[in-house]
Formats: sequence, structure tokens, C-alpha cells
Amino acid sequence: MKFESLVPFLLVLLVSMARNQAIAGGYHPIKNINDPYIIGIAHFAITEYNKRGAGAKLEFMKVIKGELEYVQGINYRLNLSANDGSTSNNYEALVLDEPVKYSRNLISFKPLHA
Ligand SMILES: *[C@@H]1O[C@H](CO)[C@@H](O)[C@H](O)[C@H]1NC(C)=O
Repeated sequence: MKFESLVPFLLVLLVSMARNQAIAGGYHPIKNINDPYIIGIAHFAITEYNKRGAGAKLEFMKVIKGELEYVQGINYRLNLSANDGSTSNNYEALVLDEPVKYSRNLISFKPLHA
């Protein structure tokens, strides 16, 4: 095999290594918290919490802030506001999203005490 034919392959390898460097480890802020995908994650977290929680009936209001971490899928940590029927409160939800496996899991959901 000629070296020239390896060049595109090496470039792809280098770029993907550089990307992994940039995204590996730790949380990164989510720039657009109004992205429909992010809103979908927030809805999922609340629906799931309502299913599990003893009588909890939260209604999604908005995403306040969020960050994500690349793991075997993507961890979304969202601060969101939800209404319990009488008042709005803030919660922090952690969702593991694995689109490749069509899987989404609510890891934790807890009230934020401001
Ligand atoms: C959520 O809010 C808490 C308290 O203000 C803060 O410590 C935490 O970093 C926030 N989480 C995210 C995902 O922004």
C-alpha cells in the first residue's frame, strides 16, 4: 500500500483523537437548553420520576441550566423547573441517554434547595 493512500485514513484518525481529547472526561455546559432534544430529555426525566415517585405529579416548566458528559452514552445533568400542582420548584435530574441502544435512564432526580 502506498503512503498516499494512507493519508486520508491517518487524517480521520487524528481528527477523531483530537475530538476525543476535547470531549473526554467531565461535564460540558449545554449551550442551547431550549433544544428540542434537551427538552425531550427533561420531559423524560419528569415522566419517569412521576412513574416512580409515590404520588408525585410534576409538570415540566423549563430547563434552567444543563451540562453533559460523554460516557458510554451521554449523561445529561439538567436543572429544571417543575410545577407540583401548586408551586414551582427546581430539581436536578441526571439522565443517561444511549441513542445507539435506544435506551434512556433516569439515574437521579432530586429537589434543589435554593
Ligand atoms: C444546578 O443548580 C445547583 C445549585 O444552584 C448547582 O450547584 C448545579 O451545578 C446546577 N447543575 C447544573 C447542571 O447546572
